[in-house]
Amino acid sequence: MNTLLLKSVGEIASESPEKIEIFKKYNIDFCCGGNKTLKEACEESGIDATLIAGEFNAVSEYGGGKNKNYIFSRKANDWNVDFLIDYIVNIHHTFLRVRLPEAEEYTEKINRVHGERHPEIIKIRGLFLKMYQALTVHLDKEEKEFFPLIKNMKASEIQKEINDAERDHEYVGHILKEMHALSSGYSVPKDACASYSHTYGLLRDIADDIMIHVHLENNILFKKI
Ligand SMILES: [Fe+2]
Ligand SMILES: [Fe+2]
Repeated sequence: MNTLLLKSVGEIASESPEKIEIFKKYNIDFCCGGNKTLKEACEESGIDATLIAGEFNAVSEYGGGKNKNYIFSRKANDWNVDFLIDYIVNIHHTFLRVRLPEAEEYTEKINRVHGERHPEIIKIRGLFLKMYQALTVHLDKEEKEFFPLIKNMKASEIQKEINDAERDHEYVGHILKEMHALSSGYSVPKDACASYSHTYGLLRDIADDIMIHVHLENNILFKKI
C-alpha cells in the first residue's frame, strides 16, 4: 500500500492501464499531472487513498480487456520509440483529424438550434474552437518538427520540444476540464435532439482519446527519450 502511494499516477497508468478507469471516476489527472504521486494526487483532490487502492484491486481482475486503448497502451511500454511515435500519429492524430472537424460542425449546429435555451453549449463551443485551433497547431508541430527530431536523435533540441508539448497538453487539459464541467460530464439534457446527443458523444470520445494520447506521450514516450 505504502509503495503504491509513493508511485506516480503516470507510472501506475503505464503499468496497469485498466486503473485509468478509477482515475477518471475520481477526476485524478494521470496524463498532465502524471508526475504526482498517488498520495499527492489524492490529497489534492480530497480523496481517501485507501478507497482508491481498494478499487484498484477490484478493477485489475478484468485485466483492462474492456477498452482496447488500454490493451494497446500496456503494450506501448515495450514498443521502441519509433514505433510508438508512428502509433501515436497513425491512431491518435488520425482520430483527431477526423473527429475534430466533425465536432466543429455539430457544435455549430446545436448552437444554432439550442443555444438560446442552453447557454452552456455556447460556452462549450467557444472552448471547443480554442482547443481545435491549439490541437491543429500542436499535431502539425509534433509531426513535422518534434517527432522527426526524436527519430533523428537530436538530443540537444528535444528537451525544449518536450517542455512545449507538455505546456500544450496542459492547455488542452484545462479546456477539457471546463467542457466536462459545463456539460455535467456530457450528460444530454431531456429536451435535446439527436444531434445534441451525437455532439456530446463526439466530445466525450474526443476527450477520452486525448487522455490516452497525452498519457502515451507524457508518461511513456517522453520518459523513454
Ligand atoms: Fe500527439
Ligand atoms: Fe501531444
